[in-house]
Amino acid sequence: MRKVYNFSPGPGMLPDEVLAQIHEEIFDWRHSGMSVMEMSHRGKEFATIFSETEAALRSLLRISDTYHVLFLQGGGHLQFSMVPLNLLGDKTTADYVSTGYWSERAMEDARQYCAVRIAATSEDKSYTYAPQPGEWSINPDAAYVHYVSNDTAAGVEFHCTPDIGAVPLVADMSTNILSKPINVSKHALIYACAQKNIGIAGLTVIILCKDLLGKALPFTPRMLNYKEHAANSSMFNTPCTFAIYVAGLVLDWIEKNGGLAEMGKRHLRMSSLVYDFLDRSSLFINQVRRCDRSRINIPFTLADPALEDRFIKFTEDNSLKHLRGNLALGMRASMYNAMPLAGAEKLVSVMREFERAHA
Ligand SMILES: Cc1ncc(COP(=O)(O)O)c(C=O)c1O
Repeated sequence: MRKVYNFSPGPGMLPDEVLAQIHEEIFDWRHSGMSVMEMSHRGKEFATIFSETEAALRSLLRISDTYHVLFLQGGGHLQFSMVPLNLLGDKTTADYVSTGYWSERAMEDARQYCAVRIAATSEDKSYTYAPQPGEWSINPDAAYVHYVSNDTAAGVEFHCTPDIGAVPLVADMSTNILSKPINVSKHALIYACAQKNIGIAGLTVIILCKDLLGKALPFTPRMLNYKEHAANSSMFNTPCTFAIYVAGLVLDWIEKNGGLAEMGKRHLRMSSLVYDFLDRSSLFINQVRRCDRSRINIPFTLADPALEDRFIKFTEDNSLKHLRGNLALGMRASMYNAMPLAGAEKLVSVMREFERAHA
């Protein structure tokens, strides 16, 4: 069925079973006579989809009742502003851990609202490692500490949840949510755009400790206020109904395929295959510190950069799509939950063949 493997950093692949179910239900969801795309978000049919999706997310991530789960829009980018707007309260400063492109973007927006303090950074080594939480210098007066649990561009991942004490911990988990079991309760807030591991573009999931509500800056637009969204069960405005439906299907697929523990094993297996090859190669290079390597996004370069275009063409001719990195990052293989092991195996065999021809 699958014709290509998509290594894009997002939108990523969806499981075949999910695509098949969407296909089957597209005209008529559960004998309702309607497509999900036509349903009122206030109707009983969509209420069922919504509550099943939330329950599945809560169950997989073991989210307790002390947290709200919000299904919003605006992507990871809007959270770069919503987080400071809603969490600063009477504080004027927030701490950020800088691990590269995405933390820099988050900081850029936060600076509109507060003083941004860098609690730790890996800039000294071109973002090729994750500063360990024990080394973070946290300002006890910070409104929160923000970190990116897996930096999509740098290919750097925090493999354990930081335990930072009293200051609220905020995570951008856009690229590794649902890729392994996590301890939600160590976080005050988690956000993730859906188009990588949760489903399709349009949906942003926010998991937010209820205690944090009510601290929004006075000029926060209602549409950007978590309290409004929580009070209206994510229906302050019309939610992205189809994306929420797809997320529900993806969550069911994860559950049926062994849950987060199994997803964790799959990511380890797939990424180890690629890293083992990279480490033995004389042509391909990954510069991330071994213990901080991402299981999801693997950036790499070629010893001879002049071969890059030829390599990309070779991968595309072999049905491997979107391996070019963004910015000046050479190549990158992104493997989200729906990437089958066969995709990682094919990538390695294509790289090996290219190396034989060009090394
Ligand atoms: C770690 C991370 N955070 C935030 C974003 C931004 O998400 P969006 O494009 O949905 O705004 C991305 C997108 O790739 C990302 O990888």
